[in-house]
Amino acid sequence: MRNILITGGAGFIGSHVVRLFCKNYPDYQVYNLDKLTYAGNLENLKDVASACPNYHFIKGDICDIDHLRRIFADHRIDGVIHLAAESHVDRSIKDPFAFAQTNVLGTIALLQAAREYWSSEAGGGMAGKRFYHISTDEVYGSLHDPGTFFVETTAYDPQSPYSASKASSDHFVRAFGNTYGLPIVISNCSNNYGPNQFPEKLIPLFINNIRHGKPLPVYGTGENVRDWLYVVDHARAIDTIFHRGRDGETYNIGGFNEWRNIDLIKVMIRTADRLLGNPEGHSDGLITYVQDRAGHDKRYAIDSTKLHEELGWEPSLQFEEGIEKTIRWYLDNQEWMDNITSGAYEKYYAEMYGNR
Ligand code: NAD
Ligand code: TYD
Repeated sequence: MRNILITGGAGFIGSHVVRLFCKNYPDYQVYNLDKLTYAGNLENLKDVASACPNYHFIKGDICDIDHLRRIFADHRIDGVIHLAAESHVDRSIKDPFAFAQTNVLGTIALLQAAREYWSSEAGGGMAGKRFYHISTDEVYGSLHDPGTFFVETTAYDPQSPYSASKASSDHFVRAFGNTYGLPIVISNCSNNYGPNQFPEKLIPLFINNIRHGKPLPVYGTGENVRDWLYVVDHARAIDTIFHRGRDGETYNIGGFNEWRNIDLIKVMIRTADRLLGNPEGHSDGLITYVQDRAGHDKRYAIDSTKLHEELGWEPSLQFEEGIEKTIRWYLDNQEWMDNITSGAYEKYYAEMYGNR
C-alpha cells in the first residue's frame, strides 16, 4: 500500500496524473492537494471523484508548511508527485512575485515537510520514499541553432520569470537530495496539449476563439517553435519515472514533435473548421498578428532518448491523432469551457489581455 500526495491535481496535467494513478493503482491512496487558484478546476476530476474510492481531495496551499506537516503525518505520505505551480509565462511577466511564492517557496515548503516527516520515527526513514518534482523544458532557455536539442545535461538558462522560478525550484529539489539525502527525481517535459487545459494557453484559447469566430492573436511573426506532447503521454511518463526512475536522476520528456506556431495554428483551423462543418478556409481570416511576448523564447526541442532507452517510455499518440482528439474534446465540452470563460474570469481576462 502506498500513500501518494499529488500537488496541483486539479490543474491540467495534474488531473490526468490523478486519474491515471487512481485507476491503475487501486491499492494506493491518492491525496490531491490543490489551492484551487484560477487554474484549478474540480470539474476536471468529476469522474474520478465519483468512481474511485482511493481518491481524496485536500484544499490547501503548498506554501502552508504547517498544513503540509499535518498532511504527511495524518496520511503517512510515502510518495510525492509535485505539479502545483503558477504555469503561464504571460502571467509571470505581469506578476513575477506570485511565481516566486508558489514555485520556489512552495516547493521548498514541500521539500522541508517531506524531509521532516520521512526522517522522523513515525515516517520510518528515507528508504522506499520518493519525492518527484515535475518541471519544464523551459528551464534550459531558448534554442537558436537548428538540429540542437535539450538533453539532461544542458546548462540551465531560463529566460522568463516563469522558467526562472521553475529552474530555481529544480535547484532546491536537487539541493535537498544532495544535502539531506531526500530521494528525489525530476523530469523536464515539453509543451503539453490535450483536454482540460486552461484556455489562456495557445491551443485551448485558439480552439475556443475559432468556435466563436474571434481573432486568433499570434505573437510576433508566429515563427517560434514548440515541441508538443499529448498530456496523457506525459502522465504515462510520470507513472514510469515515479515507479522506475533512479534516485537523484533527471529525465527529459518529449515526443520529437516540433511545430512553428503558425503551422500549428493552420492545422488547428483546418481541423476545427472540418469538425464544425465549416467550408475549408472559413476561419483563416481570424489569424491576427499582435505584439510579440516580451523575451519570447525562439525554440524548444527535447531529446528524450534517456527516458526511452533507460525506462522504455515512448509516446502512444501521433500528433495528427492527438490534435484532432483534443479539438473534438473542446468542441464537445463547450460547457466546461463556458464555465471558465464566463463570469468573473471574463472580466479578469479582459483586464489582462484586452478584449480579444
Ligand atoms: P495548471 O496551471 O493547469 O495547474 C496548476 C495547478 O496547481 C492548479 O490546479 C492550481 O490550483 C494549483 N496550484 C497553484 N498554486 C498552488 C499552491 N500554492 N498550492 C496548491 N496548489 C496550487 O498547470 P499545468 O499546465 O497542469 O502544469 C502542471 C505542472 O507541470 C507545473 O509544475 C508546470 O510547471 C509543469 N509543466 C507544464 C507543462 C505544460 O505544457 N503545461 C509542460 C511541462 C511542465
Ligand atoms: P503557451 O501555450 O503560452 O506556452 P509556452 O509559452 O509555455 O510555450 O504558448 C505557446 C506558444 O504560442 C508560445 O510561443 C507563445 C504563443 N502564443 C501566441 O502566439 N498567442 C497566444 O495568444 C498565446 C497564449 C501563445
